[in-house]
Amino acid sequence: MLYPMSAAQSLTINGGAPLRGSIEVRGAKNLVSKAMVATLLAEEPCRLRGVPEISDVEIVSGLLRLHGVEITSEADGELRFDPTQVEQAHVADIDAHAGSSRVPVLFCGPLLHRLGEAFIPDLGGCKIGERPIDYHLKVLREFGAVVDKRPEGLRLTAPGGLVGTKVTLDYPSVGATEQVLLTAVRARGTTELKNAAVEPEIMDLIAILQKMGAIISVATDRVITIEGVARLGGFDHLSIPDRIEAGSWAAAALATKGDIYVKGAQQLPMAQFLNVFRKVGGRFEIDDDGIRFWHPGGELNSIVMETNVHPGLMTDWQQPLVVALTQTSGLSIVHETVYENRLGFTKALGEMGAHIQLYRECLGGSPCRFGARNFEHSAGIWGPSPLKGAKITVPDLRGGFSYLIAALAAEGTSEVDNVGLIYRGYERFSDKLDALGADYSVTG
Ligand code: EPZ
Repeated sequence: MLYPMSAAQSLTINGGAPLRGSIEVRGAKNLVSKAMVATLLAEEPCRLRGVPEISDVEIVSGLLRLHGVEITSEADGELRFDPTQVEQAHVADIDAHAGSSRVPVLFCGPLLHRLGEAFIPDLGGCKIGERPIDYHLKVLREFGAVVDKRPEGLRLTAPGGLVGTKVTLDYPSVGATEQVLLTAVRARGTTELKNAAVEPEIMDLIAILQKMGAIISVATDRVITIEGVARLGGFDHLSIPDRIEAGSWAAAALATKGDIYVKGAQQLPMAQFLNVFRKVGGRFEIDDDGIRFWHPGGELNSIVMETNVHPGLMTDWQQPLVVALTQTSGLSIVHETVYENRLGFTKALGEMGAHIQLYRECLGGSPCRFGARNFEHSAGIWGPSPLKGAKITVPDLRGGFSYLIAALAAEGTSEVDNVGLIYRGYERFSDKLDALGADYSVTG
C-alpha cells in the first residue's frame, strides 16, 4: 500500500497562509474505475496508464481479483490486467467488499456476458443523497437480465442472453449510461440509448471500448447507439486527467489567496469551471502541460452558480467552490441540481464563521427536480467571512477536501478528523499539501 488508508487519521492544520507551488493530477477516478470494469469484457490483456494511487482503485482491483482477473502494477501508474480467466467469485468474499464503493453495480453487464450470472453486494459511496440504483436495474432488465434481490445483495442471471434494446433514461445518469455501454457492447443486436450522460469520462470510456472492438456512435442530442459485437479484445489507454481534483486545488488557491500550478489540468473538460473561476475574480493561465490558478489580490466577486450534468458545471466542483465563495464580497447563490443533499457539509463551514443559509427552493434560475420538495439544495452565501479554525469531521469525499480547504484558509488551528476518506479520490494529497507549503501534522 503506497498511501495511508486509516480512515481514523486526523490532520491538525495551522491555516491562514496561501498555498503556493506546483502539483500534478493523474487519471480521473471516475474514468479509471470504469475502465478497470471494462477489462472484464476483454478476452485479451489490457493496459491502463495514468492510474492514480487512490483507495477506489484498490477497491475495484480487489473485486476484479476475486473474479479471476490478474492485475500487475508497473511503475508510473500503469496497471496491466489479464482477464482471460474470469470466474465467479464466492458470495462471502464479494460481500466483504460491501459498502465500499458504487462501482460494483457496473460489474453486472460484463459478468452476465462472461459468466451468465452476477452477484453484486450492497453499494457504498458518498452519502450525498439517496443514490438509488433503479435506473441500473431497469436498463439491465430491458436487456433481458433477471434480478433477484437477496438480503446480502443482488443476484442477476440472463436466461435468454442479453439482447440490444431501446432505452430512455429519466435523467442523464452517469452510472446508468455506463451500465448501458458496458452491457450493450456485447449484447445481441443494436441498442439505442436516449437522454444519455455525456461527461468527458464517459467519452473516454467509449474510446476504450472502441479500442476493444466496440461500435458506438454518439449524436449531439444525448443519443448513443451501440451495435453489439461477439467478442472484445484488450486495450492500451492513458486515462484523461482528473478534472475534479484539478478544480479542487484551483478552489484551494482561491480560498487561501494562493497560486497553484496544476500539471495535467486541461482546458476543455474544465471549461465551465474556468468560466466560474473567472467570474469570481480568480485568474488562470493555460499552457500545454497544465493550468496555473491564482488569487490576484483585492476583492472577489459574488456569483450565481448552478450545477448540472455535462456540459453544465459539474456537481463535484460545487463543494470546493463553496468554500471559495465564502471569501467573495456580497451574496452568492448556489443551486445544486444533481444531488438532493450535497449542501449538508456547509453546516461545519458555518461553525468556522461562514454565513451560509440553505433553502428548499430552486434559487439559481432553472427549476430542478428537487424543487417544491423537502430538499435543502440551494444556498445563499454572504461574504467575505473570515474563517476561524475548528474541529471538523470529513463527511464525504468532496466535502472532506472542502473542509481541508476551509481549514487551510482559516485563521488558527483546525483538527480535521476522518481524513482517510479523502484518499478515495485525491492521490497522495498530503504530499501535495507539503509541496504547496501547508502547515499541518498528521495524527492517528
Ligand atoms: C458519478 O456518480 C460519479 N461517481 C460521481 O462522483 C458524480 O458526482 C456523478 O457521477 C455525477 O457526475 C463515479 O463516477 C464513481 P449519477 P453516479 O448516476 O454515476 C440519480 C465523486 O465525488 N440516480 O449520474 O452514481 C442520483 O441519485 C462522485 O467523485 C437515480 O435516481 O451518478 C443522482 O441524483 C460522487 N437512480 C443523479 O441520478 C439511479 O439508478 C445523478 O447520479 C442512478 C442515479
